[in-house]
Amino acid sequence: MQITAAVLRATDGPYVLEPVELAAPAADEVLVRIVAAGMCHTDVLPRAEVSFSPPPIITGHEGAGVVEAVGDGVTGIEVGDHVVLSFDSCGSCEACLAGSPAHCETFLMRNLLGRRLDLTTGVTDANGDEVASRWFGQSSFATHAVATARNVVVVDKGLPLEKLGPLGCGIQTGAGSTLVALDVQPRRSIVVFGAGAVGLAAIMGAAVADAATIIAVDLHKHRLDLALELGATHVIDGAADDVVGQIQGLTGGGAHYAVDTTGVPAVMTNALAGLRLGGVVGFVGIQVGDLVLDGAALIGKTAIGILEGNTDPHTFIPRMLDLWQAGRFPFDRLIEEFPLSEINEAEEASLTGRVIKPVLRP
Ligand SMILES: NC(=O)c1ccc[n+]([C@@H]2O[C@H](COP(=O)([O-])OP(=O)(O)OC[C@H]3O[C@@H](n4cnc5c(N)ncnc54)[C@H](O)[C@@H]3O)[C@@H](O)[C@H]2O)c1
Ligand SMILES: [Zn+2]
Ligand SMILES: [Zn+2]
Repeated sequence: MQITAAVLRATDGPYVLEPVELAAPAADEVLVRIVAAGMCHTDVLPRAEVSFSPPPIITGHEGAGVVEAVGDGVTGIEVGDHVVLSFDSCGSCEACLAGSPAHCETFLMRNLLGRRLDLTTGVTDANGDEVASRWFGQSSFATHAVATARNVVVVDKGLPLEKLGPLGCGIQTGAGSTLVALDVQPRRSIVVFGAGAVGLAAIMGAAVADAATIIAVDLHKHRLDLALELGATHVIDGAADDVVGQIQGLTGGGAHYAVDTTGVPAVMTNALAGLRLGGVVGFVGIQVGDLVLDGAALIGKTAIGILEGNTDPHTFIPRMLDLWQAGRFPFDRLIEEFPLSEINEAEEASLTGRVIKPVLRP
């Protein structure tokens, strides 16, 4: 069928809205009419000089929409269902069977290649040339997307679908980092570096976990102000030269937990330095450059790399929705809507820090 998609044609070029041909869903796939799709910082990866998934590509991996068709082999999902699209996984490897699909042995191929495992994309442009698609198993910056049944989490039809896309990646990653991966315990202290969508969701998760001291570190004052409204007890200007000293002062010698969402090696070093002995840091941000640690940096401390909050979307998205309905997880405060035709403005608003979570509406 013909759909309209925002195609990234060059690493340094704009997205261009184009008609493209989308193949019908295969046996294990579903066709979804996209109602809204959040923009996550990870959507800029195909702009990197070296990328698994160079342009031309359709990105977008926080879709929400209505199922329009299901493949022959799909069970439990019906035409008309409202769904949130998350990352893809196989469902049958050791990690998937253990309930940890973010560690699926085919995670990278399914989510970052812009192709199915058989290397097809299912999308061609007006010239008949292939366009990379299947970004995180979906490619939702479009009017429609084909996703696998595993990508899809069915949600209640009474919920506002236009707000729910970001639950599929950024919000899930942040909240999962504190609630699942770090499993923050009550009355403990935590520092979150970067108060973007992922960091603010980590802060909301830490508040749900009843952490006593929640410190947000960022370079933008308006993001730190919002962090205070969403559960942070203290904020620190990331440009200050005594960030570690301030953390030690606020936490009685060092934090129990830290989350880094910046991916900046100097910030990651501070995240480790600001921990008390026995503390744990979760690295979430996509790292920009090598991290070099001095000999003492890891003594008595734990560092983990977190993917998608180490969550299973099929259980964690419903959990976030329950918390949101109970008024304990106001993730929708991060959202600003843009028409899909203004995707370039949305990207700029995100990269300059003005908008925390742009949501595109086809
Ligand atoms: N691991 C995963 O599974 C996963 C999933 C989703 C996103 N991500 C990654 O997480 C990161 C955050 O995503 P996001 O959507 O929240 O991005 P974002 O750009 O909205 O947030 C990053 C924040 O870090 C702040 N920052 C940058 N340098 C800083 C510094 N030196 N000190 C303090 N703060 C600083 C920025 O001001 C910004 O507010 C990205 O790298 C993204 O690709 C990873
Ligand atoms: Zn798997
Ligand atoms: Zn993402």
